[in-house]
Amino acid sequence: MKLFFYKTYLVLILLLCFFAIQTSVSQIKTDNQNPTVFIQNITPEKIEDNIEKILKNLTLEEKVAMCHAQSKFSTKGVPRLGIPEIWMSDGPHGVRAEISWDSWDYAGWTNDSITAFPALTCLAASFNPELSSQYGFSLGEEARYRKKDVLLGPGVNIYRTPMNGRNFEYMGEDPFLASTMVVPYIKGIQKNGVAACVKHFVLNNQEHWRDIINVEISDRALYEIYLPAFKAAVKEAGVWSLMGSYNKVRGQYACHNEMLNKILKTDWGFDGVVISDWSGAHTTRESALYGLDLEMGTGTDGLGTTTENHYQYYYLANPFLEALKKSEISESVVDDKVRRILRLMYRTNMNPNRPFGRMNNREHHDVARKIGVEGIVLLKNENNFFPIKDEKNITIAIIGENATRSMTAGGGSSELKPKFEVSPLEGLKQRYKNATLIHTMGYESGPSAYDKVISGKLNADSLKVKAVEFAKKADIVLFVGGLTKSHHQDSEGDDRLQYELPFGQVELLSEIQKVNKNIGMLLVTGNAVDMSWSGKVKGILQTWYLGSIAGHAIADVVSGDVNPSGKLPFSFPKKLEDNAAHSFGKLSYPGDGVNQYYKEDIFVGYRWHDTKKIAAQYAFGYGLSYTNFSLSNIKTDKNYYSENDLITISCDVNNTGSIDGAEVVQVYVGKPKSKVKRALKELKGFKKVHVNKEQSSSVSIKIPVSSLTFYDETISDWNLEKGEYIVYVGNTSNNISKKINITID
Ligand code: BGC
Repeated sequence: MKLFFYKTYLVLILLLCFFAIQTSVSQIKTDNQNPTVFIQNITPEKIEDNIEKILKNLTLEEKVAMCHAQSKFSTKGVPRLGIPEIWMSDGPHGVRAEISWDSWDYAGWTNDSITAFPALTCLAASFNPELSSQYGFSLGEEARYRKKDVLLGPGVNIYRTPMNGRNFEYMGEDPFLASTMVVPYIKGIQKNGVAACVKHFVLNNQEHWRDIINVEISDRALYEIYLPAFKAAVKEAGVWSLMGSYNKVRGQYACHNEMLNKILKTDWGFDGVVISDWSGAHTTRESALYGLDLEMGTGTDGLGTTTENHYQYYYLANPFLEALKKSEISESVVDDKVRRILRLMYRTNMNPNRPFGRMNNREHHDVARKIGVEGIVLLKNENNFFPIKDEKNITIAIIGENATRSMTAGGGSSELKPKFEVSPLEGLKQRYKNATLIHTMGYESGPSAYDKVISGKLNADSLKVKAVEFAKKADIVLFVGGLTKSHHQDSEGDDRLQYELPFGQVELLSEIQKVNKNIGMLLVTGNAVDMSWSGKVKGILQTWYLGSIAGHAIADVVSGDVNPSGKLPFSFPKKLEDNAAHSFGKLSYPGDGVNQYYKEDIFVGYRWHDTKKIAAQYAFGYGLSYTNFSLSNIKTDKNYYSENDLITISCDVNNTGSIDGAEVVQVYVGKPKSKVKRALKELKGFKKVHVNKEQSSSVSIKIPVSSLTFYDETISDWNLEKGEYIVYVGNTSNNISKKINITID
């Protein structure tokens, strides 16, 4: 009897364990698809009470110690009171490998290999905010697993020129697109109890002279083009930290600039922490008074070149303490900074309920692949060159260094150490089992950060000869070219030196074309490039930098397993002078070494191409599909609106082809007669919709009338003009299916 009792008891316990495991497994699955809200078991009011209590217990020395770094990526806590350190990491495409305490060298850990997610340009090209949410959530989980409290990203600097070495880390040229995509990314990260740190505030739109250049800009361009994505990060996503940029704005360094107090903290009510870019702080008084809360990266005699006590000499360290002690700066100034830092801690490392995170799991790789696949843009597809069938007796020559080059290495602070990285060649090999694949490098660019190859060691002529030989034997050539992540390419620290494709790729293409006309280009870049060679190829896929799963995502699209649906988040000008910033000459870009003037004003990207009628090679919002779409039945709910209304635009998206696919309906609005200069039209709404072959789907997009305001410099505020507006509905900024006139009264 006793035995029977124990046995039943045991079975019951086993059953309970089984159900518990099942529930937690299904919890993990649903978490990733639809992240549960991160639970804070203490009310905001209570947090503020606690912060005040802590403040009363802190000495001045302890308060100051919280306002600056104690190592390259951490700050000191207050052990006496159980206040932990804050640990940060770059961002924004994955959690960066562990950096040494006092130098920029990698620490050489063996447990810091992560998932590398696609670059933010690719995410923006997906035009899919749901994917942005999954990106943020998965990345936040990895950051949490790596015990990071702040993830240094996302970047939302606007794409002003294709020469900016850092465009690949940002979300394109349009403030509405960047705002829409950044909000779910931030919310996703923060659901893990990890702070996002939106960067670089503001006007860090080039890397050349980034530490010294002073940007002069009109209020309209500032408010309408360069600030909205930051504002959305603060007001809609509730971001917990923000990074100041290196450059100066209107004569003051951006890391300690009146804009931080006035616009960010007062007008937008930002209650988080302003963190300096690494070495972005320059004086104690200005750092203290003009909005900076936490100083990172400053070396006493350069970046990390001394190890002895140098954190003590930061502008917000001993010199700050001295100024406070002498009452040159009021204690309320340091209190405000500490309040913000403690608030960030309550949201992150002082919240006992935050989840533990996970890293390098199947779900994260799947999310990365989905984003990669949805962000790839089909730019050209003559005679349905793509997709390429996997057939016996077909030889595909894969030519180009980017077929095998690691693109998670390099690029600057966004460099990653993924657990694995599937190259385009590897991805295609795994997918194409019947066709014969042959590969040769074709050209050589030089070493990447991890390569042992020394530039110029390989003979350019023999590489070319072999490539032509391979092209001759092949039925199809896939040229995998573009840029690299090294200096003067798509990389932090400086800008590109040429708009054209580098390393002799165009010459090589011409040689290949003489022996094989069946060429498709897989363009691996984070930037627009000169495309005067586009006539030489039949198909072009813009494949960005896709991280761990690059090769699989590329193979998915090349093979047609997935129908491409990405749209360009920035314009590809035919030539550099067609870009607005460049058309105004050197003072506009890159400046004279001291100042630069954003002379194109609000006319950035397609706003310039449209208004000045300068056709782009590929326009903003452009991207083809393997099927055909048409928009019909396009209408607005009414013709007259008032200030607080929503404009509802509806249409049917018809997939008239024979393959399932997805299309992005884009709604732009323009004001033909205005008292101020205006772009012909501006993106105000979009929706991506999946439609099965030969089917239609109805789409409805709502635009608040209040979003049609312009920044009125005469009143220093937003202003809604009455009168006639035109609503443009299409699938590309320069392919509009219908224009509808409406009136705002
Ligand atoms: C970059 C930041 C980065 C920081 C820390 C700076 O050089 O501009 O984006 O977060 O370094 O690595």
